[in-house]
Amino acid sequence: MIRLDKALAHMGYGSRKEVKELIRKGYVKVNEEVVLNDDYKIEETDAITIYDENIHYETYKYYLINKPQGYISATISDNYPTVLELVPYYNGLFPVGRLDIDTEGLLIITNDGALAHNLLKPKHEVEKEYYFRYTGTLVADAVQRCLNGININNEYISKPAKLEIINEEEGEIIITEGKYHEVKRIVQELGGEVIYLQRIRMKNLTLANLGLGSWRELTIEEIQKLKE
Ligand code: URA
Repeated sequence: MIRLDKALAHMGYGSRKEVKELIRKGYVKVNEEVVLNDDYKIEETDAITIYDENIHYETYKYYLINKPQGYISATISDNYPTVLELVPYYNGLFPVGRLDIDTEGLLIITNDGALAHNLLKPKHEVEKEYYFRYTGTLVADAVQRCLNGININNEYISKPAKLEIINEEEGEIIITEGKYHEVKRIVQELGGEVIYLQRIRMKNLTLANLGLGSWRELTIEEIQKLKE
């Protein structure tokens, strides 16, 4: 059971405030009856219409986790625990994109395929920000080379990335694509070797105070912003 206004907002029919307005104006029916109170509880078998058009209610889950090392970003694995083991079970969950087994940090786990597709679509250039520690010495023009795009082992040119060298051991980088080992390979092309990698931001989401191995559900506002 879920509140009608919450379900409609989840499904993208507006902010919580906007869908409450739709309900109060009598545009929403449940099982052919107009429902005027927004805290009315519905379940998946209920037939819901807005402006007399049928909508299908599916429950989407959106978890944000702080992935520890040792977990793989997959739904099944014989050898390692998967990131799905870090969140409460729900049907159809999968991670949005991948973090390497030894990478820590921010990962979204959901069963909303459309949202995942939008976030991962290269042309949407969703920003992903990483903190890293490295060994070796980065070339003097590393920041500019990242902005220009880096030739990765003659396989592809990375899209412009914003690099900040914090000191001789630490840096941060913002990339907008998600190629295999991309951050590690960019740093390697620049003369360093990543020895610790953590994703600290994806689009509007940051880790904030979420502890390693912990999860929380995204808020409606966060989900809506992710969809923009
Ligand atoms: N880039 C990497 O090299 N590894 C990750 O896990 C993510 C981005």
